Amino acid sequence: MPDHYLTKAPMPEKKKEHPKIKSRLHPHNRHRERYDFKQLIAGCPELADFVVLNIYSDETIDFADPAAVKMLNKALLKHYYDLDYWDIPQGYLCPPIPGRADYIHHIADFLCGKNFGTFPMGDKIKCLDIGVGANCVYPIIGNKDYGWSFIGSDTDPVALESAGKIVELNPVLKGKVELRLQTDPKETFYRIIQKDEIIDLSICNPPFHASAEEAQSGTLRKLSNLNSKKVTEPVLNFGGQPGELWCEGGEGRFIRDMILQSKQFSASCLWFSTIVSKQSTLKSAIKSLDKAGVAELKTIPMGQGNKASRIVAWTFHTTEQQKKWMDARWKEIV
Ligand SMILES: C[S@@+](CC[C@H](N)C(=O)[O-])C[C@H]1O[C@@H](n2cnc3c(N)ncnc32)[C@H](O)[C@@H]1O
Repeated sequence: MPDHYLTKAPMPEKKKEHPKIKSRLHPHNRHRERYDFKQLIAGCPELADFVVLNIYSDETIDFADPAAVKMLNKALLKHYYDLDYWDIPQGYLCPPIPGRADYIHHIADFLCGKNFGTFPMGDKIKCLDIGVGANCVYPIIGNKDYGWSFIGSDTDPVALESAGKIVELNPVLKGKVELRLQTDPKETFYRIIQKDEIIDLSICNPPFHASAEEAQSGTLRKLSNLNSKKVTEPVLNFGGQPGELWCEGGEGRFIRDMILQSKQFSASCLWFSTIVSKQSTLKSAIKSLDKAGVAELKTIPMGQGNKASRIVAWTFHTTEQQKKWMDARWKEIV
């Protein structure tokens, strides 16, 4: 994200040299190079209205403007993921695509390592996305880059309707993503994973904050950083419904419950995983994993500096059982 942008006339500053590659992103991430706005506008002409020049005369958008951020997402999803249609209801989370793609690439790399250097590819690989959201971002990326099929769950019927429309209106996704409503917000797998259903991987970007107030001050902080001055009125830019931003106990409790509940589905799913944003959550998550008696766990670092985060992945299957699973399900897949 740029440090500076202008919404008025550009000032004559000398051109800034940018590193060619955003090295904090995973090597397989499609978004490592600076946005090529000409290319993006070619696929999504409406983006042109939102492009401005920053003080270095580089093309960019106003990242504090929700309409501009949403249009950039539409253009990226069209150009890189072949989506003809993508939209979210007003006020819903507008995800930064490059960061979301990193989760998929890091976890794919991890599975590749487990699978003796071969990426598990194709729609026989079943991924469960807990909290798919209105934006459906992980199934879009995971299907495009690895061909995986998805089950997306959510507690919010409006989010599921929106995700359903994205799947329905894009031929590339049709038949590849199934959406399921979780009617009990305290549950993550129960009622979602059906009897005898086999899941190769579950992923989750959990609600982060512990209260509405905490979520609001987080949004204000983000906006203040984007505007380089203190913002006191919340404006929806990356958006977020209450259920997307917070839950009782915050990510700590959500992840603890998910870990403890995963034990009940240990035979149905090979690898469980989640994003863990806070360092303090990592410690408690590892304690919960220990308590649940997992056979193996892995912490996978993502990003760098103040954008650093991590994935925690765990399984109840021993190395021998993992090998049997991969031989049975991942071998024939090219
Ligand atoms: C941070 S948002 C993530 C949305 C999307 N995956 C993304 O990364 O942009 C968390 C999502 O989890 C959903 N959610 C909350 N509790 C849930 C539960 N128990 N089961 C499934 N989804 C849940 C929320 O409604 C919300 O859509």
